[in-house]
Formats: sequence, C-alpha cells, structure tokens
Amino acid sequence: MSAPMNHVVVTGAQGFVGQALVRRLLAEGLGGQPVSRLTLLDVGFDAPHADPRVRQLPGSIAEARLRAAAYEGGVDAVFHLASIPGGAAEKNYELGRQINLDATLGLLEDLRGVRTARGEAPRFVFASTIAVYGEHLPPEVTEATLPAPGLSYGAHKLAGEYLVADASRKGWCQGCSLRLPGVVARPGEGTGMLSAFMSLLFWRLAAGEALTVPVSAEGVAWWISVPTCVDNLLHAASVDPARLNPRRSYQMPVLRLTIAELVEALAERFGPDRRALVQYAPEPFIQKMFASYPPLHTPEALALGLRHDGTVAQLVERAMQT
Ligand SMILES: NC(=O)c1ccc[n+]([C@@H]2O[C@H](COP(=O)([O-])OP(=O)(O)OC[C@H]3O[C@@H](n4cnc5c(N)ncnc54)[C@H](O)[C@@H]3O)[C@@H](O)[C@H]2O)c1
Repeated sequence: MSAPMNHVVVTGAQGFVGQALVRRLLAEGLGGQPVSRLTLLDVGFDAPHADPRVRQLPGSIAEARLRAAAYEGGVDAVFHLASIPGGAAEKNYELGRQINLDATLGLLEDLRGVRTARGEAPRFVFASTIAVYGEHLPPEVTEATLPAPGLSYGAHKLAGEYLVADASRKGWCQGCSLRLPGVVARPGEGTGMLSAFMSLLFWRLAAGEALTVPVSAEGVAWWISVPTCVDNLLHAASVDPARLNPRRSYQMPVLRLTIAELVEALAERFGPDRRALVQYAPEPFIQKMFASYPPLHTPEALALGLRHDGTVAQLVERAMQT
C-alpha cells in the first residue's frame, strides 16, 4: 500500500504548467490517493479558488515566512515550478538567482524536519529545463550528454538539480528533477517570449488565422503537450523512489519534429487550407535557440515510465486540451 497523499504544495501554481497540474491533482489525486489539501504558491492569484481543499498563498518563494506557512502541518509532496524565464533572468541576474537558485535551495532546506502523513521525507519534483544543455549541442543528445548551460537560467536550473539530489541524499526530501522541453500549447500571445511561435502555431491554425514564424520549415524542435508533461510530473512524485537514479534527474522524453511536420499534422486535424496560413521568416538567433535540436535518446527515462506524446497527431490532440 502506498502512503496516503494528503497535503501537496505547488510553487508557480498560476503558471501555464502549474494550472494544468493543479486541475489534475484536484481531479485525480496523486499516486492513486486523493489530495486532501493543496497549497498554491505564486506571486499573486487572479481569483480565489472554488475548491475548498485549495489554499492560495500569494507572495514570493524567496520569503522564508511564506515557505514556512506552506509547509505548516507537514507535506506529502512539493512540485516546484516557480521560475523566472530565461530572457528575464538574463536581463535581471539578481532576480533570476534569487528565484531560480536561492529559493530552490530555501524550499529544500526548509523541508528539514517536515514530514509526510506517514512520517517520511516528502516527495519533491523540480521542473528543470533543456536549457541546461546550452547551444553547442552534440550530433545526438543522450542521458550521458554533459550539460553546458548558455544562460544563467540554465546554469541555475542545473545547480537546482544537484541541490535536489543532495537534499535527497541527506533525507530532507525524496526528490526528482525533470528536464522539460518546449511545452505546448501555452494560451495567449506569449508576448516577449522568443519561443511563443511554438504554441501560437497550434492556436492560430486551429482558428484558421495566419502566422509568420521566426524559424524555417525544416527547423527541428523537441515537443511535449502540457497534459503529457503533467503526466510525467505526477509520475515522478509517485514512482517508487528506490527506482530513481543517483542523480535524481531525468530528461523528459520528447517528440522531435520539424515545423513542417507539425504544420502538416495541424492541417490534417483542422483542414488543408491551414498549410498556406504559415509564412516562414527565419531569424538566426531564434532558429539556433529553438529550432536546431538533434535527436534525443532517453531510454532511462522511458524505463522509469516517463513518456512523450507518442505521435504528432496525439501531440496536436492533447496540446489544446485544458
Ligand atoms: N513551459 C515550458 O515550455 C518549459 C520548458 C522548460 C522548463 N520549464 C519550467 O517549468 C516550470 C513551469 O513552466 P511554466 O511554463 O508553467 O512557467 P510560467 O512562467 O508560466 O509559470 C511560472 C510561475 O512562477 C511564478 N513565479 C515567478 N516568480 C515567483 C516567485 N518569486 N514566487 C512565487 N511564484 C513565482 C510566476 O508568477 C508564474 O506563475 C518553470 O520552472 C520553467 O522553468 C517550462
């Protein structure tokens, strides 16, 4: 019998992945057990949550007082999703370091002495990123590829992975880091996000609207739908910890697709007229950062039970589910 899952904490709960995760936790529970208390952390919330199991704690995870309030009474699992995105972290080094690195360490250190309903160390799932690999990728990326972050965001996420492994070794938590690829399809225009075109392709073509993308048709990206990403986060929090590797870190499996392959699948789903809606105006920097990905092999992650979307048709189907 697995331990009953009572109290789950989600940081960055108002974000794109966070909102999808919260919906799933409330609907399905975790590890086959219902969630009885869900504490959400984010800088602010649009509205009070309707579910009485939810407690919203607005504020910064950089504040020790907020973290202590979140952990009060014991915790069964923490999903740490809050972060400052790469571009913003590069512009404001101090803020990036404070949230992406220091607050991650704070969340881990504050778990000392915090226990689950069964008296065990809480599960801790950390959203890392493929940005840990940097821009000089080898011809193939495998689970043995050494990361070489090209941005402070990736460097701090990589450091976070090591901190999760160290905190697990010390028995403060039972941690697991997952490196997320480009998660689709984020609603809205994604203003200011260089990778916005990845999600906009789905929404615009579904609506029959034209779009110019800053990459070539042959550009290759690593993709995962938000429901499949959430499946993997939930799995990482409930899989037998004895099965986790000593690094406590996994690359999420991905579908590797050209932009043209995705457009073709969207045309099959929404109508052949969609093909003509996409114009290609490659920008070298964006092409290099988001559309130049080599093959990725993740046998260790697949053996643990982590999954990609299976087919491009399923990626399209799942990406726009809410
Ligand atoms: N979406 C992707 O494609 C992708 C890819 C790789 C990695 N990731 C990682 O996955 C996680 C979730 O991604 P997302 O797309 O939902 O990100 P998001 O930007 O939509 O959400 C992050 C949330 O963190 C919150 N946050 C920021 N600073 C905070 C603070 N000081 N205190 C509390 N909350 C704070 C933000 O308000 C936001 O709601 C992030 O850690 C991100 O780095 C995402």
